[in-house]
Amino acid sequence: MGAVKKSVHGGDVHAAARELGRDVSTLIDFSASINPLGPSPNVWRAIAGARHLIPHYPDPECWELRHALADQWRVEPARVAMGNGSIELIHAIPRALKIDHLVLVQPTFSEYAAAMARAGGRVTTLCADRDDQYALPIDRLCQMLERQTKGSRTIDGMLLCNPNSPTGQACEAADILMLARIAQRRGIWLIVDETFADYCSERSILPLASSWSRVVVLRSLTKFYGLPGLRVGYAVAAPAVVQRLRSALPPWSVNAMGQVAALAALRDMAHAKRSLRFVLKERTRLSNALARLPGCELFPSCANFIFMELPPGWSASKMTEQMRREGLLIRDCASVPGANRRSIRVAVRSREDNDRLVNSFSRALREKWT
Ligand SMILES: Cc1ncc(COP(=O)(O)O)c(C=O)c1O
Repeated sequence: MGAVKKSVHGGDVHAAARELGRDVSTLIDFSASINPLGPSPNVWRAIAGARHLIPHYPDPECWELRHALADQWRVEPARVAMGNGSIELIHAIPRALKIDHLVLVQPTFSEYAAAMARAGGRVTTLCADRDDQYALPIDRLCQMLERQTKGSRTIDGMLLCNPNSPTGQACEAADILMLARIAQRRGIWLIVDETFADYCSERSILPLASSWSRVVVLRSLTKFYGLPGLRVGYAVAAPAVVQRLRSALPPWSVNAMGQVAALAALRDMAHAKRSLRFVLKERTRLSNALARLPGCELFPSCANFIFMELPPGWSASKMTEQMRREGLLIRDCASVPGANRRSIRVAVRSREDNDRLVNSFSRALREKWT
């Protein structure tokens, strides 16, 4: 197997701070899409109260956290597998489930293909249509699965991100369930990454899917609960699948502070409600302001970020570089397969940060166009 190419991601505030000779706290990060209200205040209290746990190994069973998640989703704890961020599970899946040939829809999160490459597997890609606002091509996916017959099956897994990153598109739960039914019949794995589904819970299949033997749903505490530095994610699947995932992971994947913080975050329903209300309202305000910029085109979003194209004549890398010099980090999506060279993604942040971004974009576009 050759060396696996390192993916580029948003959120690398450390590299930007080193490069610009600035402190991380002076940068405004629109490139990773994290809850702008930050974690629940209960998280700080829980961490401060858990210092006595540091001289011990963390609970390898993540007992309390797994039980809290199981309660939340009304499933048995045996249906929940914890990971060091959902990324650890994404990378464990090809080997744990023996997936050699995976179907993906581009543009999407680059780590799915990276995980397959690392496991020595193969990827077949379908492209979402830009003219259809990058909606998931459900009919084509269904047809692809239906073509797989037991004797001559060439695909053994399909992975969908719902809502999808970086496009923000989400399909209906009913459509994903239709795919799940076909995948189940054909003996094909269906993995649904619902990292951003907290922003559109009606599109999640999690409450319905955990009893299916061929479906895995991935979730994360990173984005909505605002804990990217602590690395907590999980998968919900049938108990036998959870066992396979757990045997593919190292022990103590989730550290003690991650477990304590995640538990505190999940219990603060008021903060969760406040965060959701804030982001949905601010997403509308930011979208309206960005849509008024001359020549920019926005795509509808079901998540806490906005995917957009800069005007003709602009390149995503040029705008990203220009914003970076001002301390504003945005996600250049030009290198994401299926997106074009004018594509960028920006997170919904605080009102003040969002206004600053719109003003900086507006100035940059005016300088070039006048
Ligand atoms: C779609 C998607 N899935 C999964 C992840 C990994 O998240 P984490 O490992 O922090 O849970 C990311 C991170 O950016 C993502 O964008």
